[in-house]
Amino acid sequence: MSDPEAWNPMSHPKNDTFLRALLRQPTPYTPVWIMRQAGRYLPEYNATRARAGDFMSLCRSPDLATEVTLQPLARYPLDAAILFSDILTVPDAMGLGLYFAEGEGPRFERPLRDEWEINDLAPVDPWGNLRYVMDAVSQIRKALANEVPLIGFAGSPFTLACYMIEGKGGTDFERVKTMLYGRPDLMHKILAVNAASVTTYLNAQIESGAQAVMLFDSWGGALSQAAYLEFSLAYMEQIVSGLTRERDGQRVPVIVFTKGGGQWLEKIAAIGCDAVGLDWTVDIRDARARVGKSVALQGNLDPSILLTTPDVVQREVGKVLTSFGAGSGHVFNLGHGISRLTPPENVAALVDAVHDQSRIFH
Ligand code: CP3
Repeated sequence: MSDPEAWNPMSHPKNDTFLRALLRQPTPYTPVWIMRQAGRYLPEYNATRARAGDFMSLCRSPDLATEVTLQPLARYPLDAAILFSDILTVPDAMGLGLYFAEGEGPRFERPLRDEWEINDLAPVDPWGNLRYVMDAVSQIRKALANEVPLIGFAGSPFTLACYMIEGKGGTDFERVKTMLYGRPDLMHKILAVNAASVTTYLNAQIESGAQAVMLFDSWGGALSQAAYLEFSLAYMEQIVSGLTRERDGQRVPVIVFTKGGGQWLEKIAAIGCDAVGLDWTVDIRDARARVGKSVALQGNLDPSILLTTPDVVQREVGKVLTSFGAGSGHVFNLGHGISRLTPPENVAALVDAVHDQSRIFH
């Protein structure tokens, strides 16, 4: 990275291919970044995490969060950086007590179990006990020195609610669905608090320097269509309409990603976002035919392909690029987060293959 003193919050990133592709403007090649690009498949990440002690200490330290955000960019010519944090910092700030049990993923000490706990739930103040995230965003922006743009993010209200109600990552969502169908008033109460929280949280990230933002709806795909529209998409629409869309004279693009949301692309594209994230189950050519006139698309290589070999990676990257076809409006990514078992050299092969093979399409 170049001299941090050269950073000027008003100036535009030198490599703006990611922002341009999200706005469907011409680019010389297809930009690429990777969901969970800073993570456990990188030995340097594991070393920093060990120094921090645990995952949340890593998130809470702006210095360490900056360090790990930059690690994948030091290895690969990625076209965007993503804030190192987690979607669950928001319910943690609501007082639910986030912790990571070794090898078991995220857990809450105090999941929402009683009606009074739901009635007591209040929106977070992003400048209060989430200030460490804002400090990380501004520190990362300085360290990036306008080389590539910085992505901010949050979980969707529904996905956050799944963790808040179940107390952990779901498989069957028994508690969530029992509440959604049995006590929809309580579910709407939680979702309203989450939507208000995520709106101010993302706006605070934008104010701190995030140049694009992404909503992760990891569990919306577990819902019926009617439930998805009422309990997930409606709240994401509310957030999108409350976001700061221009900052320092630049459009701040919004990406919405519902994992398993392939059957609802038209509906997602209609909520006012700039781009829709695709998981790997969707053919990106069909997705483009359906919504490519109104939004950009981000995705959608199966993350398992990164467990193979560089030649397989190159071949499969070519298939996604060819399927999208000529023109702008594609940000290359995986269809979900990268696996911790990924050999780092396969990521190098992916990034180079996207850059090399996409030029003929632009
Ligand atoms: O993409 C990036 O590099 C930015 C950082 C980021 C993390 N989590 C870091 C992380 C982002 C954008 C997230 C989002 C997130 N977190 C989502 C939405 C995306 C998705 O995966 O569907 C969800 C559902 C979570 C909740 C969460 N946090 C889970 C399920 C886990 C365990 C994951 C696992 O692989 O075991 C986490 C922990 C987490 N968040 C890690 C990282 C790098 C691994 C933590 C560790 O170091 O042990």
